[in-house]
Amino acid sequence: MIETKKIRRFFPAIKAGRVVSNNAASTQVPIQLLKLLEQLVIQYDNIHRGQSRSSLLTTERFESSYDTIAQFIGAPSRKNIILYRNTTEAINSVMYSLMTEFKDGDNIVTTFMEHNSNYVPWYGLTKEILPKFGINVECRLAKFNKETGQLDLNHLKSLVDKRTKLVCCVGASNFLGTKNPIKEIRAIADASGYLQPNGEKKSYLLIDGAQVVPNLFIRVEDLGVDFLAWSFHKMLAPFGVGALYAREELLNSMRPFLYGGDMIAEGKVSPEKVEYNSLPWKFTAGTPNILGTILSAQAIRLLMDFSLTPGKFSYFMADKKLEPPDVAKAMTNIENHEKELIGEALKILGEIPTVNIFGPKNPADRTSLVAFSCNCQDPFKIAEELNKLGVESRAGCHCATLAHHYYELNPPASCRLSFYIYNNLEDVRRACLAVKKCVQEENCK
Ligand SMILES: Cc1ncc(COP(=O)(O)O)c(C=O)c1O
Repeated sequence: MIETKKIRRFFPAIKAGRVVSNNAASTQVPIQLLKLLEQLVIQYDNIHRGQSRSSLLTTERFESSYDTIAQFIGAPSRKNIILYRNTTEAINSVMYSLMTEFKDGDNIVTTFMEHNSNYVPWYGLTKEILPKFGINVECRLAKFNKETGQLDLNHLKSLVDKRTKLVCCVGASNFLGTKNPIKEIRAIADASGYLQPNGEKKSYLLIDGAQVVPNLFIRVEDLGVDFLAWSFHKMLAPFGVGALYAREELLNSMRPFLYGGDMIAEGKVSPEKVEYNSLPWKFTAGTPNILGTILSAQAIRLLMDFSLTPGKFSYFMADKKLEPPDVAKAMTNIENHEKELIGEALKILGEIPTVNIFGPKNPADRTSLVAFSCNCQDPFKIAEELNKLGVESRAGCHCATLAHHYYELNPPASCRLSFYIYNNLEDVRRACLAVKKCVQEENCK
């Protein structure tokens, strides 16, 4: 397990005594990043828009942040990384960029376990936008097994055909915790035979990696994903930056999502013709979240240090390439740590007779979150009671609205606890025993 004792002191929220157990929504920011923000303000200036030392230094820090991000997920280079505000915006950007490529009769396949971020954009495209242009595209939904929380790959396969332009799937569910088999989904998308504009014969695969990238070791090229979206506020950074990985070839041919300043080739704007900047800046219109980008890349470096050498820093603020074996080791440590935590949570919650746990029973098959309902108590009430006991949880549908309806939950809600690298077994026990207290049989009468 990760030596949490050596890293908890860096988190002001934990030092303040909070049982931070709503990490699937957002994680806590370590003191190193808060101090870094203070330092960056001394050099505060815009990027690509000035010749001052401050502007040049900020530009260098900003641009090299893309290298760190690319190295972390095994992307070939910074050209594959586009930064947006969050996962939601990253997925919407793919929807808008590909919009003009859809043909009448095409379809998109997604699943009942998606976060609304990876369903509603496709709903909007197929039900609201494309029909206005006389183009009818179907949005199909693959089922999952209600008992095991596993995606029904046979059903998914049956929905994919030679008119499936895109398969969109969550890498790990933020409600069920299920880790989806990305390589198997890739194989299904590969077999469709859909003829893409660049001559490739396969469906594109978009993975919503919001619960994957912060928790698991990911190599985008091994997985063969075409698009991967995630947010940095779920991996120690402050709010405001999300990423899209895409294959360079696709980014070269795709239309920009946002048009405006800095995404054009220098001087190449005339009334007749506009030429776009090189990658990744073609997709960076307007002043970006410069400080947030730098902090996000440094959050990755801190995550590596916290996992590999707790309390010692070799990657944070160092001008050092992220070595793949180190990334593998760091993320495998995190995965194992989370497996222990969630194993303990499943054990304690599983002993409460009135509690129903959603998702896979085996800790190895899930990320570090657990959503549950109680036969006789409203999830919102449980979350309120937990809060009174000093435990932070989240009640609601967690934006996995389709899945909550799929279970016919009324209201469509569950209560969720979720843990991250700084949580220890004591946090898990405290949170789960508090649940036990809140849902005792006498409360259910
Ligand atoms: C699986 C999944 N997808 C997408 C999102 C949306 O992330 P953001 O709010 O950063 O856009 C979340 C956040 O909870 C998530 O867990």
